Amino acid sequence: IQRIAVITSGGDAPGMNACIRAVVLTAQHYGIEVLAFRHGYEGLLNNDWQRLDETNVLHILQYSGTIIKSARSERFKQAEAAQEAARNLDAHQIDALVVIGGDGSFRGADHLSHHWDGQVIGVPGTIDNDLFGSDDTIGYSTAVETAMDALDKIRDTAEAMDRVFIVEVMGRHAGFIGLSSAMASGAERMILPELQREKPLTVASIVKHIEAVQRVRGDSSYVMVLSEHQWPGGAVRLAEQLEDRLHLPCRPCLLGHTQRGGRPTAHDRILATRLGVHAVQLIRQGVSGVMAGTSGQGLAETPLAETWQKRKGLSQEWVDIQQSLFNPVKKSKNGS
Ligand code: F6P
Repeated sequence: IQRIAVITSGGDAPGMNACIRAVVLTAQHYGIEVLAFRHGYEGLLNNDWQRLDETNVLHILQYSGTIIKSARSERFKQAEAAQEAARNLDAHQIDALVVIGGDGSFRGADHLSHHWDGQVIGVPGTIDNDLFGSDDTIGYSTAVETAMDALDKIRDTAEAMDRVFIVEVMGRHAGFIGLSSAMASGAERMILPELQREKPLTVASIVKHIEAVQRVRGDSSYVMVLSEHQWPGGAVRLAEQLEDRLHLPCRPCLLGHTQRGGRPTAHDRILATRLGVHAVQLIRQGVSGVMAGTSGQGLAETPLAETWQKRKGLSQEWVDIQQSLFNPVKKSKNGS
């Protein structure tokens, strides 16, 4: 292996820079040259590239974003795009490509691996944590930390003014950020895609829960975590609907892209470093067509196709815990 390329693709995630750094430093250690294509697959198609060595990656691991830029490429979804990318990779005599991204990016990587002879390794980089085959994804920990921090702040004002808040978090079609941030902040309720698919909540059932929690706990602040795309009109509409029924001030708060920025947590920096190093080690071993992820305390590889074709589930244990803590069952007189 003499030359590898790296791209960051799809929504950026805190820790991507740490991963690029690990790829470059490990490659250099083995005397392998590194090229980056900028703006993900767009760079591969436009032949927009730069060389990366240790001077480019000094002191970047503490910053979010990505020094080689990212993009969602509509063009790369077209069948012939993979052949074009393969031609550009061959023109640069690239032996292997590291794709740091999420499910859409791995779909592209999988497609490319069928049209190009070089090795393709995926590294899970998405705040959504929704990739089958890895317990964890780069950026998820930081996004949860950001959401928790915001939820703590919201609680201060909700409690001071006896208000109901609906805090909308990201996650695309998965509830990992929603569940973790709700648990970490003690939110009274969470509306997550996985739960909505099973038993959708209605305005009436939410109102009933708010009233029951307030009656039993004697606390009129109530904070709800709403995963994006899970309520028509989102947090803004739900707040209006609840205010109409409860006659209490209900306020929406949309965290949006704040969840994609900020200083990566120690967890994300370490994860990104481990996975970046592992990606290069896999390339040196001749491995291709897999995502380098984690399982338990260790590392695990999963075929790229499985990462986006199979669905990763939420921890039922976590869901049960969170729901049982906010099931306002009245105590009997003897306190049992
Ligand atoms: O996949 C990461 C993510 O932040 C999702 O949580 C969210 O649904 C989406 O990207 C937003 O995408 P964009 O930044 O393109 O609006």
